[in-house]
Parts: sequence; C-alpha cells; structure tokens
Amino acid sequence: MTKPIQVAIDGPAGAGKSSVAKVLAKRLNYIYLDTGAMYRAVTWYVLQKKISFADTAAIEQILPEIELQFSEDGEGNWLLFCNGQDISQEIRTTEVSNNVSAIAMLTKVREEMVRQQQKIAANHNVIMDGRDICSTVLPEAQYKFFLTASLEERAKRRGAELEAKGEVVDYEQLRQEIALRDEKDSKREVSPLRQAEDAMLIDTSNLDFSTVVEKLFSIITK
Ligand code: DC
Repeated sequence: MTKPIQVAIDGPAGAGKSSVAKVLAKRLNYIYLDTGAMYRAVTWYVLQKKISFADTAAIEQILPEIELQFSEDGEGNWLLFCNGQDISQEIRTTEVSNNVSAIAMLTKVREEMVRQQQKIAANHNVIMDGRDICSTVLPEAQYKFFLTASLEERAKRRGAELEAKGEVVDYEQLRQEIALRDEKDSKREVSPLRQAEDAMLIDTSNLDFSTVVEKLFSIITK
C-alpha cells in the first residue's frame, strides 16, 4: 500500500476527541485508535491485580502480561480487549478515570503503549486520539489537530455522557476531577499534554458536534 494516512488528534479530557474521531474514522474507513483507552486498560489491570499505583517496579513487571486488541463491532463502535476479555465498559469507571494519570506518567508504560500504537499506524490509515500523538506517536502525521474546549463545557459534556449511561452526576466534583487530571497530564515529565507547534488548534466550546466533524473532514479530504 502507498504511505498510510495518519490523522493525529490531541487535547484535554472531554474535548470531544474520541466522539469526533470515531465518526471521522467511519466516514473515511480508517482505523480508529483510542490511545487513552490503552492507558485506561493498564490502569484497570493494575486495579484487578491489586497492585499499588506507587509500586512502579510491580507495574513494569506486569506490563508484558497485558495484550491489548481493538476490534470494531460493525457499527462504528470500537471495543477494547485485554487478554481476550472485552473491557470496553470497565475502563470507563470513575475509579479508572481518577487513577489513569498515575499510570500514564510512567516512562516504561508510555514506551510500550507508543510502540504498539506506532505498529498499528505503520500499515493502516488511522485516526488516533490522545495527548502525545502529534508530537511523539505520529510526528509525521499528515493531519494534526489540537481539540480543546473550556473546562465548564468539557465537564458538561462528560456529565451528559455519564447521565446517558444512568449514572448520577455531581457536576462540581466532575469539574474538579477533570481539572486535576488535566493538571497532572500537563505537568508530567514524559510527553506532557500540550499543543504541538504544527497542530491546528480547534476550540469546540461554542461549536456543535457536527460542525467540528465537518471542519476536520473537509480539511482531511481537501
Ligand atoms: O482520553 P482519555 O481521557 O480516555 O485518556 C485517559 C488518560 O490517559 C488521560 O488522563 C491521559 C492519558 N493519556 C496519555 O497520557 N496519553 C495518551 N496518548 C492518551 C491518554
């Protein structure tokens, strides 16, 4: 195949990256790779094994046991399997969300995740979303975006998502959790969250979902 097309989308939690990327991937018939889900999967596995998040050595030791695989269900939903088990729902719990930054800051974890992400992107047209995609995972990507929105708007969107799943949402607490995660992700030493110089900034605070999708779609297909 000719050189695969790579679309990289970075941005803070709740900016709408994954919703936009999923729709674009379906329309373009590209693979969608949710890299945040991979860090969540490692976090879920560490919780399952009852390993302390402070025990870096133990976490590094279990890394080779974790085999991750994405699979599309035929309707544009991407399921994540860990050692053959579908953990797509399990990785979305508040417990995983509130601990994932501790896992994502570990150098060895990041090296392994980036290696797997680059392997997938080498042979397929992909849309990948995360925090370090434009700078570290796909520095040669043809299209790079930094999607963001105000903290208020992001908390509102995440809250609506959780409510749709039947959860009771405390918006002030959710706002604080997202702000804390942004801060940890932005201040870590390895691949901190920040806009790459060559990424196009798109603030979605006042844009509706379909406008954002169309904007990216027209840039990618121009
Ligand atoms: O996109 P998300 O909220 O599901 O990501 C979960 C966490 O994983 C987020 O707090 C930061 C981290 N992450 C990362 O460090 N690098 C990525 N490429 C993707 C996510």
